[in-house]
Amino acid sequence: MYCSAALYNPLAEHALEKIGCLFFGWETIVYLVVGDQLTDLHRTQESQDKMKIIVETARLILRELEYTDERDLFEMDSDPEVHLFIENNPVKSIDEIRKVIAMLKVQYEENGIARWAVVDKLTNECVGWSGLKYFDQPLNNHQNFYELGYRFKRKHWGKGFATESSAAILDYGFKHLNTDKIFAISDPRNVNSKKVLTKLGFDFQETFDYEGDPTDWFELKKATWGHKKPNR
Ligand SMILES: CC(C)(COP(=O)(O)OP(=O)(O)OC[C@H]1O[C@@H](n2cnc3c(N)ncnc32)[C@H](O)[C@@H]1OP(=O)(O)O)[C@@H](O)C(=O)NCCC(=O)NCCS
Repeated sequence: MYCSAALYNPLAEHALEKIGCLFFGWETIVYLVVGDQLTDLHRTQESQDKMKIIVETARLILRELEYTDERDLFEMDSDPEVHLFIENNPVKSIDEIRKVIAMLKVQYEENGIARWAVVDKLTNECVGWSGLKYFDQPLNNHQNFYELGYRFKRKHWGKGFATESSAAILDYGFKHLNTDKIFAISDPRNVNSKKVLTKLGFDFQETFDYEGDPTDWFELKKATWGHKKPNR
């Protein structure tokens, strides 16, 4: 079941909570039910029987990535500007994208979560991805943790989509995953990404060596998340 209530309508919110709906905050009221209970509302034709999770924000739908997203992902990931601070190696073929989607599907299956498609509600366009990746291998002296990441088509930068989608994902993560902290990493030169993390409330911890590259390590504690809305 999937429902929404008008912003700041306490009666409606209370009624939904009483029947077991979950609240997702930040600038909108979003209710989510996971798994088999999803209704057909907002399901797209192509992913109808695969979709497991939907989160809705004021402007965006977040869902698992599907092979039908390959053109949108190719547009994003073949852009050298998008890849400037993430290995600087834009994709050259749609086949590379298909392998990425296949890998994400394995992560959905094994970890229950991975990067999600971010879809503009107005246009139904997949504008990028945002989400939590589970690391079971050690990185910077941490192991078995969730890392927030995001990537958007260049034409959609500067609209607040990264912050809006990530805020909903952090809400989901702290409410449904058994974790007290969520981490993020960024190239120290990636000013746009660091601004997103700061707005979300992440704290810079240190710069560490990630396979030979200096990389900034950020941390967000469950205890502090939600105490204030992300700053614009
Ligand atoms: C990193 C990245 C996702 C940041 O995207 P972004 O669009 O700059 O980030 P936001 O979603 O926070 O939007 C930023 C701007 O939108 C503006 N904005 C416009 N309309 C808005 C709205 N309705 N709500 C909120 N912000 C809005 C904000 O003012 C903000 O600008 P400011 O932070 O300078 O004040 C993007 O640059 C990207 O995809 N880069 C390539 C991939 C990458 O480097 N990923 C990160 C790896 S660590």
